[in-house]
Amino acid sequence: MSRTTGDAPLAPKRSGVPLVGSAVAFARDPYDFYADLASHGDVVRFSMGTYDMATVLHPDGIEQVLVDDFDRFRKPDLAGGVDALADGLLLSDGEQWRRQRTGLQPLFYRERVETYAETMATYAAAAADEWAAADGVELSEATSAYTLRVLGKTLFGIDADEYRDAVRAGAEAILERTSQNPVATEIPQWVPTPANRRYERGIERLDAVIDELLAERDPDSDREDLLSLLVEMGSDGDLDESEIRSQLVTFLFAGHETTATALTWALAELGRNPDIAERLHAEVDGVLEGDRATLADLPDLTYTEQVLRETLRRYPPAAAIFRETDEPVTVDGYRIPADTFLTLPQFHVHTDERWWADPLEFDPSRWDDVDDPPGDRPEYAYFPFGGGPRHCIGMRFARMELRLALATVAKRCRIVDVPDDIAVAVGSTVHPDGPVEVTLEHRA
Ligand code: HEM
Repeated sequence: MSRTTGDAPLAPKRSGVPLVGSAVAFARDPYDFYADLASHGDVVRFSMGTYDMATVLHPDGIEQVLVDDFDRFRKPDLAGGVDALADGLLLSDGEQWRRQRTGLQPLFYRERVETYAETMATYAAAAADEWAAADGVELSEATSAYTLRVLGKTLFGIDADEYRDAVRAGAEAILERTSQNPVATEIPQWVPTPANRRYERGIERLDAVIDELLAERDPDSDREDLLSLLVEMGSDGDLDESEIRSQLVTFLFAGHETTATALTWALAELGRNPDIAERLHAEVDGVLEGDRATLADLPDLTYTEQVLRETLRRYPPAAAIFRETDEPVTVDGYRIPADTFLTLPQFHVHTDERWWADPLEFDPSRWDDVDDPPGDRPEYAYFPFGGGPRHCIGMRFARMELRLALATVAKRCRIVDVPDDIAVAVGSTVHPDGPVEVTLEHRA
């Protein structure tokens, strides 16, 4: 794969109605819009508002952007849109990102993440019992309460229930903002549109939580969680106040909504597919010694793993990855000009018929060969957690939490009364378009 631009042809361009054309088409149906882009090739330019954009749809090109040529792309400057995240790990760049990633990485080493297993499973057991005792449960709310509890306990040392409404308000504000297409983020934040006012209100509530967390944490405490590490890095002069705040918002946001969305889809699919649920119940009944999953059970929970892999394929919680070019680059044989906003859309690539048979079917058996994915599928046909140096720092955390939670819920409950048709919405996440009301019953 060449780093030079040389004589590579300019990537083809999808023509659209000037200014708003692509934005409207995307909003109408993101899957159709990307299918239309794909009809032009695997590297396609288009415009959205005043943005020059391009998408990379072939796994080899995606691998090139994320891994081989990682240093030729930067995170897009979304700071005008979501200033609350601007100095955090998700949006920082260059030296600032490198310093932050190195400082935070130890919290996500395998040995450290494994110490969170007990909390993840205990909270999952409590949540399952709560859900089964209720008349009905709205899955997005219920799973997000669970993942926030886990995040609060493991990384912040707090009981997150008391902060839940404020954190959700902040997360929703950020989700709404980041789910808009770039045209919307061109409207400066100080213009008092209703959306901007909603964003401000949500962020203010999140800010108040952060004030409280920082005020309560003693810099000399011997705790070893994320909050303590950040406070310590602050008092050592390694992070300034704005970085600490941004980092806290980043983890509160990135660390629970994505995982909750995955769990929502997994549980909804179990409710809709009794055969899949039965196979999962049989596995957990055979593997789990007690009535919740443990770290020791994980290697034997192969079908649980398949259900999760399939969930992250069909409904990738991060819908797309964004990058920007500083200079002209060649990707997958095509030239992309400088200052192009690049999308690498998991939601499209994970349902591309070239790599996936019946891509819209939820079918965990496509992963039956769990240790040996088919050799003819390129690696980056599946990249729910991104790839390369900037892959999701919380990947191990999220995968463990999802496996423990799913196995624990499946051991205790059965999901019934699931809506037949759950519309899929694509924003910055792939989420159900509306509430998902279900009923859970205790298994006898
Ligand atoms: C199923 C759950 C999750 C999914 C699908 C997911 C997905 C992703 C993806 C695709 C990226 C790469 C973005 C890019 O390259 O631009 C990312 C980055 C990130 N994720 Fe996750 N994530 C999940 C859970 C988590 C959790 C649990 C945490 C924290 C505890 C977390 C924190 C982060 C952070 C801080 C980054 C930025 C990393 C960097 O740029 O160095 N994520 N995530």
